[in-house]
Amino acid sequence: MKARVTAHKDFTIARIDDRVYSAFLEHLGRAVYTGIYEPDHPTADADGMRGDVAQLVRDLNIPYVRYPGGNFVSAYNWEDGVGPREDRPTRLDLAWHTSDSNAVGVHEFIAWCDTVNTKPMLAINLGSRGLDEARNFVEYVNGPTGSYWGNLRAKHGHPEPFNVNLWCLGNEMDGPWQVGHKTAEEYGRLANEVAKTLRAFDKKLELIVCGSSNSDMKTYPEWERIVLEHTYENVDHISLHMYFANRARNTANYLALNHKLDTYISTVESTIKLVKANKRSKHDVYISFDEWNVWYHSNAQDRAILDGAEGWPHAPRLLEDIYNFEDVLQVGCILNTFIRKSNVVKIACIAQLVNVIAPIMTDPKGAAWRQTTYYPYYFASIFGRGTALNLSVSCPGYAADVADDVPFIDIAGVHDEAEGTVTFFAVNRHGTDALPVEIGLEGFGAAKVIDQQVMTHAMLEAVNTADNQTNVVPVKGADAMVSGGTVKVSLPPYSYQMIRVKVG
Ligand code: AHR
Repeated sequence: MKARVTAHKDFTIARIDDRVYSAFLEHLGRAVYTGIYEPDHPTADADGMRGDVAQLVRDLNIPYVRYPGGNFVSAYNWEDGVGPREDRPTRLDLAWHTSDSNAVGVHEFIAWCDTVNTKPMLAINLGSRGLDEARNFVEYVNGPTGSYWGNLRAKHGHPEPFNVNLWCLGNEMDGPWQVGHKTAEEYGRLANEVAKTLRAFDKKLELIVCGSSNSDMKTYPEWERIVLEHTYENVDHISLHMYFANRARNTANYLALNHKLDTYISTVESTIKLVKANKRSKHDVYISFDEWNVWYHSNAQDRAILDGAEGWPHAPRLLEDIYNFEDVLQVGCILNTFIRKSNVVKIACIAQLVNVIAPIMTDPKGAAWRQTTYYPYYFASIFGRGTALNLSVSCPGYAADVADDVPFIDIAGVHDEAEGTVTFFAVNRHGTDALPVEIGLEGFGAAKVIDQQVMTHAMLEAVNTADNQTNVVPVKGADAMVSGGTVKVSLPPYSYQMIRVKVG
């Protein structure tokens, strides 16, 4: 068994939008409280933000962080989170049956974004609220002083507009679990009115309308068509979400799931084209895949917390998936899909960033550490910027639940013209056999391997914990080399790797 790949400099998919390496942070569990914010923590800064967490986030070079939800946003009053902390109300969060002190709100979040070199992407409550609250929120965040909302923001310590350019018009409005769930017709009409109104405030805002919560929804993909028929000319992106699970403990099926992701994206891409044609429009709408990740390890623990919930705990341990080595492979495959779909996916957010189904974990008053999945996300975010190459791949495959012929290799290639590098991200889905790979480089000139990072482990279940933070980490590889214009490398069974080649 071997894989033959060809990468041609001129055979490209698209320029990858850096924003596909974005993330998501919700007022949920310990994402915010004892996640990014813990005023008593030894590393906390003057704003109460944890310095150890900030550094791990900074290292990821995340373009945008979506906030504050998620299901949480659909009953959130943004006004509760502004003004003097001591005056802020504690509210019951109906999405996760918890209470929220509102110690962190939009000011603190945006200040934190500055400290970790990222930008805010804000979600608007279109569940329990409507057009007026949406426009007030946007005017509060971006309006000039001299206006009511701008003056209020100045009174709260920030005279300069925050100039947030990315706005989500609600969250998962197709989901019956959502506070204020709507039909596609109801939501499409409301979202269009909100979009028009926000555009009247500022034409340059980038607006994201809700698509399906996942491709198993009964309303998918008609939801997308109807919502876009209402909103097409006034929005820039349609949001999709998908979570991955290996409940049946079948690795082969699990690692094939990005084929389902691929089909989901292609179907919505076609739906966008259909609506564009119906409308005889020149406008383009793209996909914001603003929630994706592995999510299942914590399901039983969450049910126990939520079903047995008495009272309204503040920052309980919800959705604290502990990721294993197998999930490294899955996250690698997902990120490869976004690179290959970079013609239409312009934003994607790993969901979430800290503690809640996240690459970064913390102990209250204690350590912050990298989960196993931190690494494929890190490598893609740092080295996956540039132009996505349309690779030709020939490799044997296997039959899985979601597809008949899933190649054992999953590979994406990125040409960074400015740096003069080509970077490959590759996963070997074979559990017992190493996979020799030859990547023919065409049109790049002289080539030399400058880095090879390999992740493999004897146990798919291996995890990183506070006490053993480096159980699953990348190691520098030494076997990748270029010979006669061909990169030659062998992928160990069940492995992830990044190979960087200097070209030209
Ligand atoms: O990320 C966890 C939850 O998953 C979000 O709150 C919701 O949008 C999705 O269903």
